[in-house]
Amino acid sequence: MTIEYPSVVRRRTLLKLGGAAASAAVLPWAAPADAATSRAITADLRPAPAKAAILGANRPKTDVLAYNGTVSGPVVTMHQAVPFQSTVTNGLDQGTTVHWHGIRLPNDMDGVPFLTQKPIRPGADFHYAFTPPDAGTFWYHPHEHTAHQMGRGMAGALIVKEPEPPPFDRELLWVLQDWAFEPNDQFVPGFDTPMEAAMSGRIGSVVTINGVVPGPIKLRAGERLRIRMVNACLARFMALRFTGHRVTVIALDGQPCHPFQPANGQVIIAPAQRVDLQLDTTGQPGRDYPVIDDFYGRHATYRLVTLAYTKQQPRRRSLPAQPIILPPNPVPKPDLSNPIRHHLDIVGGMMGGMGMTADGKPAPIWGIKDGSRTSDGMAPIFTIPLGRTALLTLENHTAFWHPMHLHGYSYTVLSRNGVKEPYPHLRDTVILRPKDTVEIAFAATNPGDWMFHCHVIEHQVNGLMTVIRVA
Ligand code: C2O
Ligand code: CU
Ligand code: CU
Repeated sequence: MTIEYPSVVRRRTLLKLGGAAASAAVLPWAAPADAATSRAITADLRPAPAKAAILGANRPKTDVLAYNGTVSGPVVTMHQAVPFQSTVTNGLDQGTTVHWHGIRLPNDMDGVPFLTQKPIRPGADFHYAFTPPDAGTFWYHPHEHTAHQMGRGMAGALIVKEPEPPPFDRELLWVLQDWAFEPNDQFVPGFDTPMEAAMSGRIGSVVTINGVVPGPIKLRAGERLRIRMVNACLARFMALRFTGHRVTVIALDGQPCHPFQPANGQVIIAPAQRVDLQLDTTGQPGRDYPVIDDFYGRHATYRLVTLAYTKQQPRRRSLPAQPIILPPNPVPKPDLSNPIRHHLDIVGGMMGGMGMTADGKPAPIWGIKDGSRTSDGMAPIFTIPLGRTALLTLENHTAFWHPMHLHGYSYTVLSRNGVKEPYPHLRDTVILRPKDTVEIAFAATNPGDWMFHCHVIEHQVNGLMTVIRVA
C-alpha cells in the first residue's frame, strides 16, 4: 500500500494533532511563509531576571535569567529569505548581546561584544535586522558573560521555515539544557570556576526539554514526525537512543544532509549542535518507549524522556521506506582545487597545561595555535581573502572533547583522522574527540571578523577561541 503525503500539510489538522500531544514539547506548524508580502518578521527580546519552574509546577521556582521571562527562551520563527528584525532590550544588570547561532548573516549583526558591536548596556537596546538565507534549526544566546547568562537560562530555539513546509505530519522541538541545583532548588553558583573550566565544563545533573523536566510525550502510531533538537547546554554532550525506533538524521546544524541512520542507533549531539530527525512512529499503540542518553557511559545513563503511544489506531498502516529529503540551502560550494590552508592546534586543559606566559603570568587554560602564533582571543589569527576557499585542519592535542564552532558560515566537514566523511556534510559546530584531526572547508564569501571557538562555554571563555578574518 502506498501512502500519499500531501505536499503542503493543512494547518488546521496539524494544530489539532499538536493539541492532543504533550504541549511543552510540541510545536504545531505556523502558517506558511509570508513571503509574498515580504514584510519583515519581528520578534523582540528582553533578557531579565525571572523565576522558572524548571523542576516542575509543585517545586519552588528557581531564579533564572531569561528572554521574555521564559526558559528556554521564546521560539523565534523566521522564514527563509524573508527579512527579520529584533529589538533587544537589556533588563539585566550587566551587558549582553544576542548571537544568532548558525545564521549566515552580516558581520555587524553577529552579536559578538567588542568585535561586531558594543555590549548592550543595562536598560539600553540594540536593533538586529537581517535576512536568513538558510531554512533550518538554529538557536540564539548571549555572547557576553556567556557562562553566567546562558548557564542561568538565556538560550532559545530559532527556526527558519522552508517556503514549502516539508510533508511531516507534525514536528517536535526539543531544546536540551542541563542544570546543577543546590538542595534549595537554586543553581549552584560560580559558573566558571577553574576546576569546571580546566576539565569538561559544568555538567548539570538535571536535564530539561524546553525548560522543564519532561513528562511523557504522547505520540500516535503511524505518523512521520520531525524532531528538531538543539543542545543548549554549556558543556554536556548527549548520545540519544530512541529505544524501539529507527530514527533517520535529515539535517545537521540546520543544514539538510544525506539522510542516514546513526551508527549504533546513537544520535550524538554536542553543545551548540542541532540535529533534525525523522521519527516514524512505528511503535505499538499503548506502549512506552524511553529515550536514553548514554554518552557518559553505563553509570551515567539516564532516561531523557518517554515516548508514550496513545491507544489510538495507527494513523496509517505503513509508512514509506523513503525518508523525506529536505530542500538544500544556498550555501556556496568550497573550491578545493586551490584553497588557502591553515593548520590549527587545540591545546591546553588539565592534562596538557600551557604553563606560564613569557612574562611569568599563568597562561590561559586553553588555546588555539596557528604554527608558532597563539590566539589572543579577539585579534584575527589569520585572514582569508574574500572569495577564496579556506581549508582548515583542526588538530586536538588535548584529552578533552571540543565542539568547534565558526560564526557566519556553514562549513563542509571533509575528513576525520585522514578518513573521508562518507557523506560530506555541512556543520557550524564540529566535534573534535581527544586527539582527533578534522579537515573543514568553506568558501569565504561572507566578509568580516568571525569567531571560531569551542562551544563548551567554560573552554571558550578560558582561551579556546580565536577570530578568523575574511577580507
Ligand atoms: Cu553559539 Cu560564538 O556561539
Ligand atoms: Cu555562532
Ligand atoms: Cu572545548
